[in-house]
Amino acid sequence: MFTHLDLRKKFADFWKEKNHKEVPPISLVPQNDPTTLFTGSGMQQLVPYLLGEVHPLGKRLYNIQPCFRSQDVLEIGDNRHTTFFEMMGNWSLGDYFKKEQLSWFWQFLTQILGFDKKRLYVTVFAGDKKNNLDPDNESRKIWLELGVPENHIFSYGPEKNWWSRAGVPDNMPEGEPGGPDSEVFYDFGQDFKLHENSPYSSLKCHPNCDCGRFLEIGNSVFMQFKKTKNGFEELPAKNVDFGGGLERMLAAANNNPDVFLTELYLPIIKNIEKIVDKKYENEDDKRKIRIIADHLKGAVFLIKSGVYPSNKERGYVLRRLLRRVTIKMYQLKGKKVLANDLNLAVEAIIEIYKNIYFEEKDLEEIKPVIGEEIDRFNKTLEKGFSILQKIEKPTGKQVFDLYQSYGFPKELTEELLKEKGLTFNQKEFDEEFEKHRALSRTASVGMFKGGLADHSKNTLRYHTATHLLHQALFDVLGESIRQEGSHITGERLRFDFYCAKKPTTEGLKEVEKIINQKIKEELPVNFVVLPKEEAYKIGAKAFFKEKYPDMVKVYYIGQSLETAYSKEFCGGPHVTNTKEIGKIEIFKFEKIGANLYRIYAK
Ligand code: ALA
Repeated sequence: MFTHLDLRKKFADFWKEKNHKEVPPISLVPQNDPTTLFTGSGMQQLVPYLLGEVHPLGKRLYNIQPCFRSQDVLEIGDNRHTTFFEMMGNWSLGDYFKKEQLSWFWQFLTQILGFDKKRLYVTVFAGDKKNNLDPDNESRKIWLELGVPENHIFSYGPEKNWWSRAGVPDNMPEGEPGGPDSEVFYDFGQDFKLHENSPYSSLKCHPNCDCGRFLEIGNSVFMQFKKTKNGFEELPAKNVDFGGGLERMLAAANNNPDVFLTELYLPIIKNIEKIVDKKYENEDDKRKIRIIADHLKGAVFLIKSGVYPSNKERGYVLRRLLRRVTIKMYQLKGKKVLANDLNLAVEAIIEIYKNIYFEEKDLEEIKPVIGEEIDRFNKTLEKGFSILQKIEKPTGKQVFDLYQSYGFPKELTEELLKEKGLTFNQKEFDEEFEKHRALSRTASVGMFKGGLADHSKNTLRYHTATHLLHQALFDVLGESIRQEGSHITGERLRFDFYCAKKPTTEGLKEVEKIINQKIKEELPVNFVVLPKEEAYKIGAKAFFKEKYPDMVKVYYIGQSLETAYSKEFCGGPHVTNTKEIGKIEIFKFEKIGANLYRIYAK
């Protein structure tokens, strides 16, 4: 068996040997980056560098980055989609390009992992006339030169072979980087049914068909464009952004098409089988068990990253995961599953990743969060049931509301209604569902607007103001201050922090005064690149939840590094002078936990 530890090591060794430096992974909850709720790919922390800033570790980078994609929640249940996954990535920041990237990745797959070439298929960009983007003939040529036969090379349009954080070219906001990509797929063989509903039905089965036969194991994005008002412009450098799912590559390396049967899921599945007293066998049960395993793992990682269940943003995503876990358990077992029953499954997750992401003590912090949420939902579960009992003529909308407000999946409601001899209009439900989906899609696309990704002036102002706020809090409230998180939009900044005693109104007034004073002083904003130890020594503020590389970038606000008012570990970007910020006002202050506080300023 090929283990995940083997894979991690082989990947790291391969890129190290090609002079790549490891960038430590960032938190699943990105800091100072309003463009997205969760870290969804390895390139997240590299956006400023893909856009042209100099990276302190150089032009060749790699890492393994934990990722979470909440937009995929409804896709979970098949053999390969997961909300949480680890992305193995390598980057060239204006160094090598297509030829090296494709040859090296091919070498990694065929020589290092020993994949049978006959099982590998590749895809290239077919072009996008509407946006004046040419087909990627160069990559096609490189693949042919590497010995990939013509009938293993497929071309697709921007839906499949273009990558940016916002998706296809038309969805990208101004300033967002993106480019054509080339993917590699592993073929698990012919034993999959032919499918009539494929959008590419004339091809029958093909790499991007979703029957499960082909598994995408890596994507080389050629990040060379930036979206502008007038279409696409070339970035200062031609970059490579590669990402490959560790779970999927592991499944392929073991020639098993089900990622849930890799050692990264199997111990969780085994525990779930025990809890619900069902086997991971028929398709329907398998689907539910996969959802439980996926969601539980996602929840554990989110909690470890500081997310707590709530009705907003990240907290709501976590809540939804745990609700679905509870419902699926209930469906499988036929009765309520109590929070404590889940402990072994949670322990299994932490055990899989111990020494990589978790320590023993995490268990004691994570278990109660999951437990409380499940206990709470077990109560909603019954409320939902009592509403359901009273429904006499169910409508699609009611069924959807039960799904939406009480977390009751349609199939569960359907089953329970059936017992009473009732049915509902599926179409009406689907319409409601689509309406809602369109809304949440708009909401998540909206997350890209007005953020650091577009480097809008307001975002830069707020970003620099956040550094001033951090230092001012320290000056006024003392050394116990510790940043817990921050979130910037084009309209305001939010700063979460730990403070040993409750800040007073006068204290906050003082903080506000200092920030505005520093803005008035028209202080320049600059950065230096330093060895990490040096940066700590000069007192630069670091974010304790983050792991930093050996060389770091420190932004300082003031005439010189020595006399600077604020020094902070940060990737940027910022305004060049505090006078650009304008006036700052703290307009909201709240307590969000034990000794934890939140400030909003505009
Ligand atoms: N950033 C690219 C992806 O997420 C590699 O697929």
